[in-house]
Amino acid sequence: MKVARITLSDRAANGTYADESGPEIERVTASHFTEPLEWIRVLLPDDRAQLEAAFIRLADVEHCPLIITTGGTGPSARDITPEATRAVLEKELPGFGEVMRLHSYEKVKTAILSRATAGVRGRSLIINLPGRPRAIGECLPLIVPAIAEALDHIA
Ligand code: MTE
Repeated sequence: MKVARITLSDRAANGTYADESGPEIERVTASHFTEPLEWIRVLLPDDRAQLEAAFIRLADVEHCPLIITTGGTGPSARDITPEATRAVLEKELPGFGEVMRLHSYEKVKTAILSRATAGVRGRSLIINLPGRPRAIGECLPLIVPAIAEALDHIA
């Protein structure tokens, strides 16, 4: 299955530091799926137009069933990932963000600062994750069963 991962980070995109969250998505996802995954890797600054264009290309041209973002979900001025995601979705699936916030909150009280959402565009499922590498391991396993079910529904 083709899976795209998009890291949103001004500083990782300009080379200030290495992107650790994108590789972490691959590591955690691979440990939960038995089928082979073909990765499309994207690293972008926190720029809404670039992110929307990437979503449209990955969904409509590359026909990627699963697109996972990391970063840009918080409250700061540059955080635009949920807005860009909603702008391209045909159906929002708010339960993904709700469960990540609820269950992460038990361990990390700042989990409620993430506005992560998810939804469907065509035959693509788009999911936002928070940006910290640790958050990926905390959130992704919670939603794997629903990812698999949603992929069946939209295929
Ligand atoms: N969720 C989990 N599970 N673990 C975390 O460490 N960090 C929070 C939150 N969600 C965090 C988390 C923090 S501090 C912020 S600011 C928001 O995610 C948004 O992060 P982002 O802007 O990098 O997406």
